Amino acid sequence: IERLANQIETAAPLHNWPQDWMHTDSAVHKTNLLLEDSFVPGAGLRTTLARGTDAALEIITHSGLRGRGGAGFATGRKWRLCKAAAGDARYVVCNADEGEPGTFKDRWLLQQQAERVLEGMAICAFIIGARQGFLYLRGEYRYLLPHLQTTLAQQRRQGLLGKNIGGEPGFEFDVDIVIGAGAYICGEESALIESLEGKPGIPRNRPPFPVTQGYLGQPTVVNNVETFWAAASIIVNGADWFKSVGTPESSGSKLLSISGDCTAPGIYEYPFGITVHQILRECGAMNTQAVQIGGPAGTLIGRADFQRKIGFEDLSTGGSFMVFGETRDMMTVVQNFTKFFAHESCGFCTPCRVGTTLLKHNLEKIATGHGTHLDIQTLRETSNLVQRYAHCGLGHTAANPILNSLQSFPEIFGQRLAARSFTPNFDLDAALS
Ligand code: NAI
Repeated sequence: IERLANQIETAAPLHNWPQDWMHTDSAVHKTNLLLEDSFVPGAGLRTTLARGTDAALEIITHSGLRGRGGAGFATGRKWRLCKAAAGDARYVVCNADEGEPGTFKDRWLLQQQAERVLEGMAICAFIIGARQGFLYLRGEYRYLLPHLQTTLAQQRRQGLLGKNIGGEPGFEFDVDIVIGAGAYICGEESALIESLEGKPGIPRNRPPFPVTQGYLGQPTVVNNVETFWAAASIIVNGADWFKSVGTPESSGSKLLSISGDCTAPGIYEYPFGITVHQILRECGAMNTQAVQIGGPAGTLIGRADFQRKIGFEDLSTGGSFMVFGETRDMMTVVQNFTKFFAHESCGFCTPCRVGTTLLKHNLEKIATGHGTHLDIQTLRETSNLVQRYAHCGLGHTAANPILNSLQSFPEIFGQRLAARSFTPNFDLDAALS
């Protein structure tokens, strides 16, 4: 197991970019909000206990906080549904299985501000009535374990975890850390819960959603690291403070993991509504041809779309912002992403297991100059099939890099086909349209 773990940790990165900056201990804030907040440990819990569950929940709801893992479900609504669900016990799960290529902001939060994340979990526990929490840590982040255990011990010593938290009789809550084994699919919440229960990480059918039937079939809140981290500050500073930046549908700010062809990669906090163009300017990107927002499962955009905005109403993202300069071969980029999904498919359903491998082979054929317009058609058909019929989010999004690039970069396919097309009456435009 140790040998395997070492192999995972030393595995070659997806891209040949320098990796040192990914371990940065600083972050750049472009808005005066969460990173600027001088968070005092215990303050969030004290406010929550003083106000009571309903008023505290109202603050979270009114703030408009939405899930920071990428999908953006309203956090207040999720907690309310869980609180109202029937069950013998309730659970709080922090999804720290940050596996989306190009996303590393949760790792930074766990390294730098773990106490705020844990306090957000305890606040959620008080509101929904949970006694047990789990922090599901990505297998590749196992080196954070000693630090997290030290932080947990500190929280217990300070009365922020354990029994009679904050002097509140009967309020008992603690967190166990569970380490994943390196499977991307375990970041999908129901696969994560299966894994927590000691089973293979295969996604469940949803509904029922975890808020009614999660861990051990009991009501469970699963939220991303950044969501709990933000909630702890919102409780103290209030809903209006949080809503002072952002857009009507995407209040507050978002941490972005910026990487790739730019001179200042790293962790940035931006208000929602910021344009891609502005971010590119501020992270020192030059001659950018494409940006991948939200990781391979998200959206790949070209220059024509750089005026678009980060936010749930336009470009939603769990935090990944990968910059590709004009010297990058976008076909290689799309191939990398497609290989990633084929490798990470859990194999449970045929559309995803077979479909992602077909996509990988199909792309390879085109990339090496052996494709015809029929291969483009097959690529499109297989993409649609995987997107529509796969069992879970991995399959639903696995074809995004291909479909996005067919739309934004049709030339990377056309150039390869045109080079050796033997089809009589070959209509390239029709094949790409
Ligand atoms: P989803 O939209 O199905 O669900 C989002 C959340 O809302 C879940 O917690 C779900 O339980 C809850 N929910 C949705 N409808 C509900 C209802 N009617 N009642 C109660 N709860 C409800 O999205 P999903 O599949 O959970 O996540 C997909 C997102 O995750 C994508 O945006 C993807 O980009 C992102 N992702 C993030 C990664 C990361 O490392 N942060 C890795 C891989 C994917």
